Amino acid sequence: MATYDLVVIGTGPGGYVCAVRAAQLGMKVAVVEKNATLGGTCLNVGCMPSKALLHASEMFEEAGHSFAKMGVSVSAPKLDLPAMMNFKQQGIDGNVKGVEFLMKKNKIDVLKGTGKILGTGKVEVSADGKSQTVETKSIVIATGSDIARLKGIEIDEKRIVSSTGALSLDKVPGKLLIVGAGVIGLELGSVWHRLGAEVVVVEFLDRILPGMDGEIAKQFQRILEKQGFAFKLGAKVTAVDTSGKTLKATIEPAAGGAAGTLEADVVLVCIGRVPFTDGLGLKEAGVALDNRGRVQIDPHFATSLKGVYAIGDVVAGPMLAHKAEDEGVAVAEIIAGQAGHVNYDVIPGVVYTTPEVSSVGKTEEELKQAGVAYTVGKFPFTANGRSKVNQTTDGFVKILADAKTDRVLGVHIIGREAGEMIHEACVLMEFGGSAEDLARTCHAHPTRSEAVKEAALAVGKRAIHM
Ligand code: FAD
Ligand code: NAI
Repeated sequence: MATYDLVVIGTGPGGYVCAVRAAQLGMKVAVVEKNATLGGTCLNVGCMPSKALLHASEMFEEAGHSFAKMGVSVSAPKLDLPAMMNFKQQGIDGNVKGVEFLMKKNKIDVLKGTGKILGTGKVEVSADGKSQTVETKSIVIATGSDIARLKGIEIDEKRIVSSTGALSLDKVPGKLLIVGAGVIGLELGSVWHRLGAEVVVVEFLDRILPGMDGEIAKQFQRILEKQGFAFKLGAKVTAVDTSGKTLKATIEPAAGGAAGTLEADVVLVCIGRVPFTDGLGLKEAGVALDNRGRVQIDPHFATSLKGVYAIGDVVAGPMLAHKAEDEGVAVAEIIAGQAGHVNYDVIPGVVYTTPEVSSVGKTEEELKQAGVAYTVGKFPFTANGRSKVNQTTDGFVKILADAKTDRVLGVHIIGREAGEMIHEACVLMEFGGSAEDLARTCHAHPTRSEAVKEAALAVGKRAIHM
């Protein structure tokens, strides 16, 4: 029987990063993966393919709408969807190969099959009707998440799709109905809208992007509406009739009332994700779940079963790849006897639309609810030189700082490259920095990041260019 210091079940960003860090710390490590390829949701059907399509569709949109005004004259771009999907697949393959390389480089054994925990120190790996049991000092569960489904609406991944089907449609739908105005709905809605689909988003709540700062969400909704998105807020889809050539979705007001119908060629259901624990044998092994089906852990990622830990989407917290990665590093260090730690107050979130939306720390609503006195500094990209010359002035930077100490508590950005710009705020917040610290940090000119500095200056009511 093979024996290890650590067996990690699942090779998404949580699992493979945990395995690499553990190997760096001198452990003998194996990963177990039931899918044909390594990399989990993120690399195969999540972050990476969606970003490839967002990039390619943005180029298509730019070629059709922005080149001419810059004096670049090209004929109207033609969509070659199979080639675009091939571009996406090349990106996936390249990243999956990268993870395979990291496993080899760090001498990590890859055990292909479904992992089941038999008890402390024992994992059964089954594939093609055969199984083997391996012994290990520690086990990390990193089995991720699966799509949440709507009762009575069956996802066939052709006409009624989850994000997975929406990443591989074989033609641009005339009408795309999206259920859920969260991150997936707005990102994949952007992809298909740019490629020619009419997009309607039905959202249960009275706002888009729940959890994001309310003012940012409102302005972002206006920007998306200007681009051509239609929103039906405070509404839910309760049924989809698939009998005809076009789908007929029943829409009901969330608060109750008369139902209506919307027709669509494709319905994308993206109402969140749920932890994935099927086949792990958790109940029999004695690993406790919380009331939402997530593996329950203590502050050191330990489950209720000795020697078994859990990280990533399968435990509580934001379902984000970088959160899973940081937890993977922290748990490997804890198992090695070090003081691994994740600062959950500084986990950025990015929506990779155009413009992008990024955020770290507290929203205005959260600060109000917690009764924290704060000051706000805002700066629009319309007043940022670089954005003006590029004619990409949508959006603004918003900084929330403690009214007494000036410590930065939250930063929220809508704008091109907002997903890159947020990280100076992350570093500042990790070091407990103030708006004054940020305002006095020299920023290169001309950059869009100067808007971050100006927003920090605006906290002290002394922005220069506004
Ligand atoms: P996963 O990546 O889900 O990996 C879990 C792995 O475990 C899978 O490979 C699975 O096959 C395997 N597994 C499960 N059970 C077993 C078993 N019993 N035995 C063996 N193997 C098993 N996050 C971001 O931060 N940025 C983004 O831009 C982003 N975009 C996304 C876009 C889409 C369309 C989707 C769906 C998600 C996106 N996410 C994004 C979320 C991100 O993908 C997840 O947060 C991340 O993948 C979670 O990592 P994980 O390691 O916990 O689990
Ligand atoms: P989400 O939680 O972001 O959004 C789901 C939306 O659906 C919410 O606005 C919710 O109010 C709404 N909703 C729920 N039930 C509904 C119903 N019956 N009818 C209408 N609306 C309903 O979930 P989403 O977009 O599915 O994404 C899943 C996860 O994947 C998220 O947790 C996100 O963190 C992650 N992800 C991250 C990305 C990124 O970081 N850029 C990109 C894509 C996904």
